Amino acid sequence: MALFGPLKPLHRTEEDGKALAKTLSWPHLIALGIGGIIGTGIYTLTGVGAGLAGPGVIISFALCGLVCACAALCYTELATMIPTAGSAYTYTYSAIGEIAAWVVGWALILEYSLACSTVAVGWSAHLVGWLEQGVGLQLPAFLLSGPASGGLVNLPAVVVSLAVMGMLLIGARESATLNIILVLVKIVALGAFIVIGLPAVQAGNYDPFMPFGFLAHEVEGAKVGVMAAAAIVFFAFFGFDAVSTSSEEAKNPGRDLTIGIVGSMAISTLIYMLVAGVAIGAAPFQEIADSGEPLPHVLRSLGQPLIATLVGGAAIIALPSVILVMMYGQSRIFFVMARDGLLPKAVAKVNAKGSPALITLLTGLFVAFFAGFVPLKQIAELSNAGTLIAFVAVALSMIILRRKKPDVARVFKTPLYWLVGLITIGGCIFIFSSLPLISQGFTLVWMVIGLVFYFAYGFWNSRLRKEKA
Ligand code: ALA
Repeated sequence: MALFGPLKPLHRTEEDGKALAKTLSWPHLIALGIGGIIGTGIYTLTGVGAGLAGPGVIISFALCGLVCACAALCYTELATMIPTAGSAYTYTYSAIGEIAAWVVGWALILEYSLACSTVAVGWSAHLVGWLEQGVGLQLPAFLLSGPASGGLVNLPAVVVSLAVMGMLLIGARESATLNIILVLVKIVALGAFIVIGLPAVQAGNYDPFMPFGFLAHEVEGAKVGVMAAAAIVFFAFFGFDAVSTSSEEAKNPGRDLTIGIVGSMAISTLIYMLVAGVAIGAAPFQEIADSGEPLPHVLRSLGQPLIATLVGGAAIIALPSVILVMMYGQSRIFFVMARDGLLPKAVAKVNAKGSPALITLLTGLFVAFFAGFVPLKQIAELSNAGTLIAFVAVALSMIILRRKKPDVARVFKTPLYWLVGLITIGGCIFIFSSLPLISQGFTLVWMVIGLVFYFAYGFWNSRLRKEKA
C-alpha cells in the first residue's frame, strides 16, 4: 500500500467487471478529440481573452498550446499503457494511489461537467445572437441567463444539455458517428473565417501588443495581462483528454489512441493560431472583447453579414459536439469510480448496449443545472482549474511510472519525458496561479468537500482496500 492508499494494477482484472463495448476506431477517436477541443474556447473566450490581454492573447494561446501539447504526450503514453477507462483518475490510481486518484476524479467533475455547462452557455449566446441578427427574433431576456446575471434561467443552455444527454443514452457508436459530421462543420466554419478575415488584417491592430503586460495582476478588482488571458483561453485547448477516457472502447487502443490524441491536438492548435491571429488583426481587440460571439461579430464588422450568419449557424450546429465528448468522458469516469467502489455500485450498471445509463442521466442533470444558473466566466474558470489539477497528476503519474515500472511495454513513449513532464507541471501551476483568487478559493473548497466524501464513503467501500484487507 502506497502513502496515498492502494495502487491499481496497470491492466484490466476480472474484478473490473463487464467491459464497455469495443466500438470505436481511430477516425471516431480523432473526431472525438477535435469534437472536444474546438468549441466555446475559440468561438467565445477569444473575445474575453482579448479583453484581458489585448493582441497579446495570441501569446496566451501559444503558451496554453505548448502546455497542452506536453500534457497530450503524457496522456498518450498512459492511455496506451493503461487501456482501462477512467483517464487521469485511473492513471493516478495506478501511479500514486487511491486518495490521490479520488482527488483527481473529483477535479475531473469540475473539468468535464463544467466544460459541458460552459459550452452550453456559449452555445446559448450564439443562438441568441443568430436569432436576433439573422432572423430578427428576440427571446425573452429572463430565459437567457441565470439569477446572478439578472435572469431566471438560461433555458437554451439547459435544453441543449439535456438533448445531448439523450443522444448519449442512445449509444456511444451512433453519437460518435454524428460527432464526425459536426466536427467537419466546425472546421469548415473556422476555415471560412480565416479565409474571409485574412485579407482584412492590419498590422496596426497588433499595436500595442501587450497593453496590460504579461503577468496576471489585479486592476479594479479583475486580473488582467497575458497570463490572466491564458488562464481563460486554456479552456480552448483541453478536450483531447476525453479520447483517453474511451480507451476501453477502442478497437485497437495502441494505434488508435495515439493517432486520436496527438492528431486532434495538432490539428486544433494550428487552427487556433490562425483564427486568433486573424480575429485580432482584422478588428481592434476592444471591439471583440465584449462580444459573446466574437467571430461572427468580426465578420459583420467586415461587411460580411451572410458569412457571419453561416459561421454563427455552424457554431450552433457544432458546439453540441463538445458537450457530447465531455459528457461522454464524465459518464465514463463516474462509471469507473463506481466500479472501483468509490461511488455507489448501483450507478455503475451498464445497459444492453454497454453504456452506463443511470450515470449518463445523473451527469446530464448536473450539467444542465450549472448551465442554467451559473455565469459563463465562472464555470469556465472552474472547469480550467479542475483540468489543470488533472494535467499535473497525469504528468506526475507518467514520470513516476517511468521510474517505478520501466519494463512495462509502452506503445507510445513521451520524448524527453522529464522535460515534457516538468513543462506540463510547471505550466499548469503557473496558469492556475493566474486564475482569479475567487476561483482558486472555490476549487480548494470543492477539493475539501471531495475529501470529506471520500472518507465518508469511498474509503470504506473501495474494492482494492477490501481486497487488500
Ligand atoms: N476546448 C473545449 C472548448 O473550447 C472545451 O469548448
